[in-house]
Amino acid sequence: MVAFLLLILLGKLLFSWRFFPNLVYKKLKSNGFSGPQPNFPFGNLDDMKKQKKLDSSANLVISHDIHSTAFPFFAQWQKLHGKVFIYWLGTEPFLYIADPEFLKKMSADIKGKSWGKPNVFKLDRKPMFGNGLLMVEGEDWVRHRHAITPAFSPANLKAMASLMVDSATNMLDKWASLIDSGHHEINVESEIIGTAGEIIAKTSFGINYENGRKVFEKLRTVQITLFKSNRYVGVPFGKFLNPKQFLKAKKLGKEIDTLLRSIITDRSNKPRSGKPEQDLLGLLLAENTVEGRRKRTLTTKELVDECKTFFFGGHETTALALTWTLLLLAIHPEWQKELREEIKEVIGDGEIVDATKLGGLVKMGWVMNEVLRLYSPAPNVQRQARQDIQVDNLVIPNGTNIWIDVVSMHHDENLWGKDMNEFKPERFKDDIFGGCNHKMGFLPFGFGGRIDADDVALTM
Ligand code: HEM
Ligand SMILES: *[C@@H]1O[C@H](CO)[C@@H](O)[C@H](O)[C@H]1NC(C)=O
Repeated sequence: MVAFLLLILLGKLLFSWRFFPNLVYKKLKSNGFSGPQPNFPFGNLDDMKKQKKLDSSANLVISHDIHSTAFPFFAQWQKLHGKVFIYWLGTEPFLYIADPEFLKKMSADIKGKSWGKPNVFKLDRKPMFGNGLLMVEGEDWVRHRHAITPAFSPANLKAMASLMVDSATNMLDKWASLIDSGHHEINVESEIIGTAGEIIAKTSFGINYENGRKVFEKLRTVQITLFKSNRYVGVPFGKFLNPKQFLKAKKLGKEIDTLLRSIITDRSNKPRSGKPEQDLLGLLLAENTVEGRRKRTLTTKELVDECKTFFFGGHETTALALTWTLLLLAIHPEWQKELREEIKEVIGDGEIVDATKLGGLVKMGWVMNEVLRLYSPAPNVQRQARQDIQVDNLVIPNGTNIWIDVVSMHHDENLWGKDMNEFKPERFKDDIFGGCNHKMGFLPFGFGGRIDADDVALTM
């Protein structure tokens, strides 16, 4: 009897891993999509790792032609299968897209709330994002967006500026004293990630209290842990291939949730006499409260997940953008000079940064855009179809995972011209798309559908 049940269970599992994906694959194939041959149960993960090893010999000449170095497997498959094809993470097929025109047609009729996020990633990254804004779908996404967007108003963000200036000043003072005491090497990336993490933690949930500081430290550990164990996405029982890290991330995730919950409860119970905290959590709680009682637009669990989402969505992206900016400026002293002059003119020499004046830093804007183009901190965007999607004579079946290769598009000669791999901030001088000949070819903040007019405040 037990053996019989086991057999049924095994059959069921095999069906869902082996045959169901196969059905989807066949359907995609018969719809005209091609791609590299997958094997069971790793899909194309083996190829992806092998090629990575081959290409890891350090290249000492700085070239901005990064796609084939960072994603050798995608560059290789593009040669064989074009800019749109299918590849496999474990038993999950992904439709790969590096063609903005295909993207435009695909997303033409799909509203933000109708896009899904791949279920495999939701599971895999649960300790990081939970059901926060980045992962939530449908009407829930609309509700979360409505609750959160007001907190990101320019006025609110400006009120946080002094917190950001404090952390940045501390970091720079530390660098100055390191250099004064004879240290001539600073790990700029890790310094900036630390500072950005501190800024996001301060502006999201506050770290003045002991619990806030603990959350911050645990969040960073989760990130490092998950980064190490992320390699078997889509492989059945993949988490058991890295059981230690998986369990560690899960445990930390629970501890963080408990700590954030206690911060939220403390704050909700605080007498209303005191000024509410001006961080994002404080703003969300204030908005959630009517006449001293929680309206519960967002539940406590949802608030916890949003705090985590801000942290993971906000600190590494900004830190990477800033780190690359410093590197590119180091290689291009002529732009250092331009920006110094602009800052003197707009902000003043040695003045404290006034957030209302930041918009006047026009050349700074070009430089940042060019950095986001060459070294996009979000190198790809993922979706999952929640309905059949027609693109010309092709049909993307409901349930298909979608992987948009932003780095490839940002370095595509057909879109940018022959100088696509050069650092040329001036390409953004008269054109917010940087002269890209397709409006969906420059996507540092993702693409339409999930983004609407008020998104600018949220993603910038
Ligand atoms: C240079 C900095 C940043 C870059 C390059 C960046 C990039 C992106 C991208 C590409 C997406 C779209 C993901 C998708 O559609 O699947 C996104 C969404 C999001 N980002 Fe950022 N981001 C940055 C900074 C921030 C900051 C500072 C925060 C918060 C404090 C933040 C919070 C979010 C949230 C909550 C979403 C989800 C929006 C939604 O789906 O409704 N991001 N970001
Ligand atoms: C897409 O597939 C999901 C899961 O199988 C199903 O629940 C949903 O109703 C489908 N959507 C449409 C529009 O058919």
